[in-house]
Amino acid sequence: MTHFLDINKTPAAELRAIIDNARAMKDARAGRPKGTLDDDCPLAGHMVALIFEKPSTRTRVSFDVGVRQMGGQTMLLSGTDMQLGHGETIADTARVLSRYVDLIMMRTFEEDTLLEMAEYADVPVINGLTNRTHPCQIMADVMTFEEHRGPIKGKKVVWAGDGNNVCASMVQAAGRFGFDFTFTGPQILDPEAGFVGEARKAGVNVSLERDPFKAVEGADLVVADTWVSMHDSQSSRERRHNQLRPYQVNSALMEAANSDALFMHCLPAHRDEEATSEVMDGPNSVIFDEAENRLHAQKAIMRYCLGV
Ligand code: CP
Repeated sequence: MTHFLDINKTPAAELRAIIDNARAMKDARAGRPKGTLDDDCPLAGHMVALIFEKPSTRTRVSFDVGVRQMGGQTMLLSGTDMQLGHGETIADTARVLSRYVDLIMMRTFEEDTLLEMAEYADVPVINGLTNRTHPCQIMADVMTFEEHRGPIKGKKVVWAGDGNNVCASMVQAAGRFGFDFTFTGPQILDPEAGFVGEARKAGVNVSLERDPFKAVEGADLVVADTWVSMHDSQSSRERRHNQLRPYQVNSALMEAANSDALFMHCLPAHRDEEATSEVMDGPNSVIFDEAENRLHAQKAIMRYCLGV
């Protein structure tokens, strides 16, 4: 069973093959209407369950479109509509869904929920975001960087703001793809020490820098994300904003990075909070390529999981 649960649970060579396949698949259908089928229809006859226990725009639409382009069919399920939201166990849900579908993509709160789904499912399970990680996003980010700037290996990536679930997957990717990673934000919002330690063990340079201007020196990519994630309490909003305001990605900060440094944000963004509109809409921003590449990267991830 080939699940896609986290960047650090997938061997580096397989992650590389997924990115290369995503680029090839993107090129192969360039310019075609989005509702047309891929030539080889690799998911023909396959049924895919897309489970969302949290809101989503990009993940929901890109998985749905991706399955359809590859000739498969989708079933969109919300946690509240399913018995899962009314006390049925994850294990029983996994066993039942495995009798109906060939692949499960799940966006949920606790990582343990995803892991239990994978443990009991007889079909592959893909992580569509948990409170802890967001590996599909980071696969799209690596793909996007390489489209614009070539191999990411040896480059410097700076994450400004909250060391959240998306940041955690970026730290994992540093170890797997071999790029340097610097986190800049308040100490209280550092990424988990375990993620940092594991990337360091893989031999990459991972640093935590409180001064955002020092952090971005020599950066090839600067990344921002929302200051209050879906799983953070709204009551922490004001405190977080006060802690994170010095880490806003604005033109002054981008000017301190390399002149050709890219800017990324996984979206949705709170414009003029974590990043200014000037940066988001500026010449070095690739945020909409990043969003598009969710589609191509996830198509390659689904093919990897299904072996088709
Ligand atoms: N970046 C991302 O996962 O977007 P959605 O929450 O809209 O799916």
